[in-house]
Amino acid sequence: PVIYFVTPTYPRREQIPELKRLAYTLLHVPRLYWLVANDQERCDTFLDTLLSGFGIPYAHMASPMPSEFRKSKPAPRGVANRRAALQWLHQQNITNGVLYFGDDDNTYDLRLFSEIRQTQRVSMFPVGLIAEYAVSVPVVRDGKVVAFLDSWVAGRRWPVDMAGFAVSLAYMSQYPNVNMPYKPGYEEDLFLRSIGLRIDQIEPKGANCTEILVWHTQTKNKKSAVVRLNSEFLDGRSNLGAL
Ligand code: UGA
Ligand code: MN
Repeated sequence: PVIYFVTPTYPRREQIPELKRLAYTLLHVPRLYWLVANDQERCDTFLDTLLSGFGIPYAHMASPMPSEFRKSKPAPRGVANRRAALQWLHQQNITNGVLYFGDDDNTYDLRLFSEIRQTQRVSMFPVGLIAEYAVSVPVVRDGKVVAFLDSWVAGRRWPVDMAGFAVSLAYMSQYPNVNMPYKPGYEEDLFLRSIGLRIDQIEPKGANCTEILVWHTQTKNKKSAVVRLNSEFLDGRSNLGAL
């Protein structure tokens, strides 16, 4: 099966280095299709050139966050992007393969990809560096997921991170009301609720959820004082000579 790796991304001065770091991981993965959804009005030609240069099969889409959500705190980050990718999969009538939501700033062990490739319905696994407990992890007994350990349960039926599960597209295609809502903190829960899952159907990965194969790393971000000059310079659109 092909892995459809969905990456929300957005313009800021860390964008290009994040995408390069991720691409140089994904280049090691066979049979992977990269869906890169950028939080911007139009497809950026610089980004398109960058993406095509890696040689990874990809689709690049523009998926701006609706303006009414931009001011909200917290804002629904990456939601418009993932919705666009879901719509793309639907429009292309892709009902085979495995879907994974992989943010542009996380860190991925290559073994994650061989683990999730055989997902029958929904697989789940630990994510490192999540909030206070420093991990979000399904609790496994006798090879079955029976509970979740997460620092922020908040009434969620599925208290997991976006990077902590993968979904079979054959399975997902049976649910016409797949939903990724603009509800910060509850995107994973409501998405998983929309695909009719029972806890005993979950496939634990990563040696029965004892191994961490993905980390919720975050890059310290800074705003540039001279925004335009710095962003063009730092992401490689300009070079020192041109300055
Ligand atoms: C955590 C989860 O890991 C995300 O999957 C979840 O979407 C997010 O919380 C949330 O619920 O807000 P976190 O590290 O806090 O992620 O958020 P970011 O990494 O800043 O953003 C998540 C994704 O959305 C990233 O791939 C990022 O590039 C993208 N994003 C962020 C946008 O497309 N637009 C933005 O304005 C901000
Ligand atoms: Mn992140």
